[in-house]
Amino acid sequence: MKRLNGKIKYNIAVFISGRGSNLKSIIKHSSKKKVLYKVKVVISNKKKAKGLLIAKKKRIKSYYVDFTKSKKQGYKILNILKKNNIKLICLAGFMRILPSYFIKLYKGKIINIHPSLLPKYKGLNAHKRVIENNEKYTGCTIHYVNNFLDSGKIIFQRKVKITKKDDKKSIEKKVLKIEHHIYPIIINKVLSNL
Ligand code: GRF
Repeated sequence: MKRLNGKIKYNIAVFISGRGSNLKSIIKHSSKKKVLYKVKVVISNKKKAKGLLIAKKKRIKSYYVDFTKSKKQGYKILNILKKNNIKLICLAGFMRILPSYFIKLYKGKIINIHPSLLPKYKGLNAHKRVIENNEKYTGCTIHYVNNFLDSGKIIFQRKVKITKKDDKKSIEKKVLKIEHHIYPIIINKVLSNL
């Protein structure tokens, strides 16, 4: 915990695997007055994740750790989280299920954003499947993380209307814009209730 501009800020960690556009938005919002968090650490399970460059540019400590290699790697991350006094873990495009010992240790303190109206369209290629099924609506969901893919308790959802003109690309763009808007707000809300 740190006092910035007279306000208490909680340290959060963001886990990524790729582009990092949500990470960018989360960082951007962290400088706002009423925001309760500071992005202290970024963890990626992909060495070449573009999001790592965003972290570097913003001088945020970032680490590449491949969970698949060994349990030792997982413990390495737990150590980093502990050292940095991390209050909340936010998954943002993190494409792996966390080891169960992680979930146990950080129960109720790990959240994820998913680009569909869960429980529909869990997993990969949600937008593609939404279009193929001629859905009228899609959206995004922020939820707590448990041991199963995109299955934890839902915290917040926002609906997006699909028009006849929409394709996979335009839907992704619409949903992503909303993701960038709501994730920082919900992170703040979750922190204020911890
Ligand atoms: C987002 O659509 C997020 O909902 C999903 O993966 C995508 C990550 O995008 N889990 P980015 O890396 O934040 O740009």
